[in-house]
Amino acid sequence: MVNVLVVGSGGREHVLGWKLSQSPKVDKVYYAPGNGGTENNIPIAADKIDELANFALKNDCFTVVGPEAPLAMGIVDEFSKKNLKVFGPTKAAAQLESSKIWAKDFMKKYGIPTAPFEVFDEPKKAIEYAKSSKHNLVVKADGLAAGKGVIVCNSHEEVASAIEAMLVKKTFGDAGNKIILEARIDGIEASYIALSDGNIAIPMATSQDHKRIYDGDKGPNTGGMGAYSPTLVITEKLAEKIQKNIIEKTILGMKKEGITFCGFLYAGVMIKDDEPYALEFNARMGDPECQPITMRMDFDLYDYLVASANGNLSSLPKPLWKKQSAVCIVMASKGYPEAYPKGEEITGLDLKQKDAFVFHAGTKKEGNKILTNGGRVLGVTALGDTLSSAISNAYSAAEKIHWQSKYYRKDIGKKGLAFL
Ligand code: GLY
Repeated sequence: MVNVLVVGSGGREHVLGWKLSQSPKVDKVYYAPGNGGTENNIPIAADKIDELANFALKNDCFTVVGPEAPLAMGIVDEFSKKNLKVFGPTKAAAQLESSKIWAKDFMKKYGIPTAPFEVFDEPKKAIEYAKSSKHNLVVKADGLAAGKGVIVCNSHEEVASAIEAMLVKKTFGDAGNKIILEARIDGIEASYIALSDGNIAIPMATSQDHKRIYDGDKGPNTGGMGAYSPTLVITEKLAEKIQKNIIEKTILGMKKEGITFCGFLYAGVMIKDDEPYALEFNARMGDPECQPITMRMDFDLYDYLVASANGNLSSLPKPLWKKQSAVCIVMASKGYPEAYPKGEEITGLDLKQKDAFVFHAGTKKEGNKILTNGGRVLGVTALGDTLSSAISNAYSAAEKIHWQSKYYRKDIGKKGLAFL
């Protein structure tokens, strides 16, 4: 039996730890720093790499890294130097997410379908280019921006104000020192996530996120307001194309660059006229996608994460998935993705619904109370025999949970119903 250390504090980390704790090979699951819903929390922040390594060493842990920031800092490289077992990509591999410019140049070099783009660090040149461009544009900060560094524009005014926000006002700090102006592809967006050991990549179940804050995909982008799995937006034929033209080309291209990509490779894809285009890569599981995807896993996740880290995924059988659908509704605090209140008491968490589970994100425990402590607070995730029943199971659970400033979208999964 081994111990597992899950690094991070979101719904993704809660659900990964929840699933790993079900493995007969896993003894204790620790979370660093975890949240109000996780147990065995260690008060070490996700970016304190040396302290995390000392804890993993003392407690004989296999470490699973959830979020992008410690991956971009090189947590996997540091743990490996110390001979500690760790799951996730190295700093070099995580560049696919930590620099959007690096990722776009990589896609161009290896013929991975993506939208045409230009890179800028001077506002004047960016604005001149935008004025002369015949495309609708998307403005992207180069670095990590918690899912908020992509601004999809509808007019020249919006492009100009996004350029100014990033390059002049430094809304995203150094992450916006360089920006990408990319042609906007208007299609259907979905999430395609695979698990790789650097040689092969095994597809995870398909899913679709809801990135905008308001119903009907309106308002600013967030880290994700809800997700469901599987999605019929990605047909079997499209899945084959994404696997071959995006995922496998990426793993092979990375190898050619001398980089072994071990970990979850997440391609945000836009589908237009039955052709998939890579919008961006993440070098980790998506959140909230991780919650419905993991709920549907009918295999021992621990075995697969260890095999990814060890480079021998091909020794494992094809993973099996529950036939049911799963839906995750993100319950947030009003004001997110801008400013929002914290410290409000949450009630109704003792759900009696067998098919639903509440994964915590921005929560903390104080005495025997659970308080809000972040923008995205909970991921209420439910299974159902159909997408409709998973939606109604998830909403009936969410309706029982209360705090003063709660906010959630009322249409999670609805766009998937249109494809049934
Ligand atoms: N749900 C999008 C992300 O994890 O980046």
